[in-house]
Amino acid sequence: MLKTVAVIEGDDAAPEAMRPVVEFLGSLNIGLEFVYPVVGEAAEAATGDIFPAEAREMIDRADTTFFGSTSGKSGAALTYLRWGKGTFANVRPCVHLPGCASPLANPEGIDFAIVRENLEDLYVGCEGPLGDLAPLNLSGRTIRRPVHDLGEGRYAIKAITRAGTERIVRFAFDLARSRRRQDPSRSPKVTCATKHNMLRGSDGFFLEVAQEVAADNADVEFESFIVDDFACRLIREPQRLDVVVMPNLYGDILSDAAGGLLGSLGLAPSGCYGDDYAYFEPAHGTAPDIAGRNIINPTAALLSATMMLDHLGFEREARRIEDAVQRVYADGRALTPDQGGEASTTTFCDAVVAAL
Ligand code: IPM
Ligand code: MG
Repeated sequence: MLKTVAVIEGDDAAPEAMRPVVEFLGSLNIGLEFVYPVVGEAAEAATGDIFPAEAREMIDRADTTFFGSTSGKSGAALTYLRWGKGTFANVRPCVHLPGCASPLANPEGIDFAIVRENLEDLYVGCEGPLGDLAPLNLSGRTIRRPVHDLGEGRYAIKAITRAGTERIVRFAFDLARSRRRQDPSRSPKVTCATKHNMLRGSDGFFLEVAQEVAADNADVEFESFIVDDFACRLIREPQRLDVVVMPNLYGDILSDAAGGLLGSLGLAPSGCYGDDYAYFEPAHGTAPDIAGRNIINPTAALLSATMMLDHLGFEREARRIEDAVQRVYADGRALTPDQGGEASTTTFCDAVVAAL
């Protein structure tokens, strides 16, 4: 079965991580075909449009998209991959690889997944001058006066819908069950983190809906924490976590914290799933400070690729690659500088191929 992957390498150092990974995927000879939608600055130079219709159609026709990381203009493609394709669940597995440079004294056994709501919350992109709110005469619960009276300033809308919350929390419960099927020694648990003590109307609603969904999924343990308390627990006892579900912004911030906990953002993969499309991208940014040096850690890109292989039905290959990555970390001789090694991106990838 031939599967088509649309590849968008992204900006700055991102292509240096993506290229060897795509080359490696090609060398598996499992019937992957790669197409390259032109987006961002290159597309603008050629067509005047940062996200031309042709690129969108390529993404639509492909079975999935493998996305590097964006610092700017290729962001229009990312917006399409999320909101255009309805990829509501951003899954970010956080697994300790023995041999990686975790700042924790005891990182052994960290194995959880963040399920970040990917389309709502403060990411609805609705911001503007406070004065525009005057016709609404909105009084703040805490400030006790109309917000437009505060003076010159801006607002941002945080939107939490029932449907959006139900589907992300259901997704989290389904993921907990499927993780348990893969590894029966796991105790399936969903942890919810929100600021419901302060944002009672929005995060409080997220938690309320999560509790309703939890009641329908009583075979899986459910717990919830206030997000600041959760941040502390994430650092102190990450081994207690299984699946963590959060509104969009907390999920964004705390997935970088989780990456740091493991040893670097270069280790954190991610997949964004919707009802009929999924795409895959490392959780890290474009690392402009190391662009052009061939030292970016491609682990996040490689592990995002294994999530993509799972999605496309190549589970056996996905497990083989994960095993190979684990062996390279355990061996420790071909690690990139963020992991305390001296290897280049290419050397690391060559070591993974050898370990296969
Ligand atoms: C991420 C990134 C993006 C986000 C940026 C690039 C828009 O930080 O995928 O975590 O905020 O979602
Ligand atoms: Mg982020």
